[in-house]
Amino acid sequence: MPHFNPDESFSALRSHFNDGRLSSSIESLKVADLSAGDVVVRSHYAGVNYKDCLAITGRAKIIESFPRVAGIEVVGEVVESSVDRLPVGEIILVHGFRTGIAFDGGFSEVMRVPAAHVMPLSGPLTGYETAVIGLPGFTAGMALDRFERSGITPRSGPIAVSGATGAVGMMAISILARAGYQAVALTRKSEEVETLYGLGASEVINVSEIPSPGKPLEKERFAAVIDNVGGPILSWLLRSTMQGGCIASVGNAAGNGFDGSVLPFILRGVQLFGVVANADWDTRRRVWGNLAGAWKPDLEALAPYVKLIGLDRLMQHAEQQLAGKTRGRTIVHYKVD
Ligand SMILES: NC(=O)c1ccc[n+]([C@@H]2O[C@H](COP(=O)([O-])OP(=O)(O)OC[C@H]3O[C@@H](n4cnc5c(N)ncnc54)[C@H](OP(=O)(O)O)[C@@H]3O)[C@@H](O)[C@H]2O)c1
Repeated sequence: MPHFNPDESFSALRSHFNDGRLSSSIESLKVADLSAGDVVVRSHYAGVNYKDCLAITGRAKIIESFPRVAGIEVVGEVVESSVDRLPVGEIILVHGFRTGIAFDGGFSEVMRVPAAHVMPLSGPLTGYETAVIGLPGFTAGMALDRFERSGITPRSGPIAVSGATGAVGMMAISILARAGYQAVALTRKSEEVETLYGLGASEVINVSEIPSPGKPLEKERFAAVIDNVGGPILSWLLRSTMQGGCIASVGNAAGNGFDGSVLPFILRGVQLFGVVANADWDTRRRVWGNLAGAWKPDLEALAPYVKLIGLDRLMQHAEQQLAGKTRGRTIVHYKVD
């Protein structure tokens, strides 16, 4: 097997911070320009997450040190390795472990990665399927994993998903439906109601219909909640969660704050917890095992909402995603010979 040529030049979107301003542009790099690692990987797919969009536009302080290649998740092929368990030719997944934040990430045709961050794809999912499910599917899976460990089952009642047309939202609806749950989609987009039913939602609520705050408790509607947005929508979901229900706070697309009272906690025993997708290895193996099996989302139904782009379109896409104008999953697709 030929070794990777360290003199090879490749393209990466790299971010710099100078004079109080972050800028990101495509540069030609060599592997020695990247952060250290035991494994060199040729990137095949890099999922574009909300956090990546914040990072590369400088809209939030995500990147810890500069210069940095962002991109918090990647599927690729090992092309150079000093580690027996990760031989050349292995298809691998990297997400979390501060990839794209403190280590150079997936917005690069070539990555160098510490072996401890690398998961070989040994299961039934292909590299492309893994990339499509990616961090959004893993995050939704972590929420479901925690619900089930708290005793929630499909008989407990419906599970609400906010930010439903986003990457995590669509994946969550498909995963919940596949796992036998009624998934109630909350969206701002009336034009996507049929899309959400097509993915397996049992009900679609337009968030414009949500009553403004007033009562500390509303009718008990949801056994559990996957909240991607925060703000007033999370406040309403908290007031509407059933006795003994669970809320997974995943994201902040509508803001960091929310209002609430303690009544859902002390009268209904509601649990509110956060999901941090940078999970330990036991959780990663358990959740990815379920995503490849009983929870596998309907990738055929999701296919129209998966957009493949080149690195050159990433900055433009990030602006659109931050403005809430995108839907579904976007992935940087690298052309590999
Ligand atoms: N905790 C973790 O480890 C983790 C992991 C992954 C993602 N996240 C976070 O989860 C959130 C969702 O991620 P994503 O990848 O699904 O992002 P995304 O694809 O950009 O989707 C976010 C969705 O939220 C809704 N939304 C956007 N702006 C909004 C606003 N101003 N008010 C109300 N709703 C708004 C939109 O859905 P509708 O138009 O359908 O309402 C949008 O499609 C992000 O905050 C992300 O950072 C966290």
